[in-house]
Amino acid sequence: MPIVSGSLTLPGDKSISHRAALFSALRDDISHFENFNFNRDCQATLNCLKNLGVESICSDSRLTIKGRTLSSWLNPSETLNAENSGTTARLLSGLLVHLSFKTTLAGDSSLSKRPMKRIIDPLQKMGANIESTDGHLPLTFFPAEQINGIEYVLPVASAQVKSAVLLAGLFADGVTKVIENVPTRDHTERLLKLKVEYDQNGRKIISSSRENSIPDISMTIPGDFSSAAFFIAAALLLPDSELVIKNVSLNPTRTGFIDILEKMGVKLEVNITQESPEPMGEVVVRYQPLQNITVPAEIIPNIIDEIPILSVIAVKAEGTLELRHAKELRFKESDRITAMVQNLRAVGVEITEYEDGFKIEGPQTIKGGKIKTFGDHRIAMSFAIANLCSEQGIEIDRPECVEVSFPQFWGLLKSVVKK
Ligand code: S3P
Repeated sequence: MPIVSGSLTLPGDKSISHRAALFSALRDDISHFENFNFNRDCQATLNCLKNLGVESICSDSRLTIKGRTLSSWLNPSETLNAENSGTTARLLSGLLVHLSFKTTLAGDSSLSKRPMKRIIDPLQKMGANIESTDGHLPLTFFPAEQINGIEYVLPVASAQVKSAVLLAGLFADGVTKVIENVPTRDHTERLLKLKVEYDQNGRKIISSSRENSIPDISMTIPGDFSSAAFFIAAALLLPDSELVIKNVSLNPTRTGFIDILEKMGVKLEVNITQESPEPMGEVVVRYQPLQNITVPAEIIPNIIDEIPILSVIAVKAEGTLELRHAKELRFKESDRITAMVQNLRAVGVEITEYEDGFKIEGPQTIKGGKIKTFGDHRIAMSFAIANLCSEQGIEIDRPECVEVSFPQFWGLLKSVVKK
């Protein structure tokens, strides 16, 4: 079996990169970002912004945005294309409702299957004039008479829905309050410095008229923790491995995967080197034994993007991993429950599928075979790691789909794998 060793610095966090571009596009000023993630999803955000009159300059991993107030965004000459990116489509929608001209927002075949009613409903309640294709993209935004603030309890734990409503709230008449019972990633409220209150119903995030006061959020974007998860898994699964991951995001609303690993008996070294504007630091991970657990329901939103790789780890851990309350996985870039269950079975692993999760009895041998990514980057990267501990190797049908979040993945993996 190969080992992984060495030290890695990862491209900027995808969620923060989208927000860096979108929020600084609203400032009538110039903003700079180091370690911006120029993956396909974030490029889609930049292209939509370009069509709306917001210029960006990219050099290496540096992004400069020449923002303009929302009221001076330009009428795009073409349909805005969010491609594969749910974050682009949902966050941008919260801004498009305010424009004084008609815009249309579309995406690729995967994004066009994903639910948009979850943003259309609250935005329409605020007064937005949106037409959809049965709750899916393409969406057409017509100028609205007035957009009003709203008090909205999130019916689904989603940072994208939360952010869409909060962004619409920034330019609405009156105050907007979004209440989440289960915390989701908090990059929007952190970066926009929104007020947050806590009560027995959970977190209440407040946004209100800000046309002229979007803060300057120029910064170095921390490495993407969701990308780090694949390398952490590789080190945990391959005997004698040791990896150091530097300058990675350690925002507590993103690191539930560390909490789950700790519950599985893993000892990681985690050193925070920066707290603000986004926590960041170093993670040192070494090969060690793993014990499966029942994953607590309330942590699911916090590990939602790491569940595919967690299922690979579970195959090699002792005991039973049971993960439920994760039906949201069926509405990601692919139906990730079906994708993991079908593909793990294809490489010789026994797994029980539930409507909202799965159960794996470990440890099991990963024999190998062919898997289908369904064009989903996180499925491809999960099986790249499974391949390293398989008996006969795993063939991945569309390895290039990693470009959606992490174009450097194959190169960086090669750089740390030692035969
Ligand atoms: C994201 C939120 C999550 C996550 C996605 C990025 C974001 O989606 O799965 O990869 O940047 O806000 P949901 O809001 O649909 O849970």
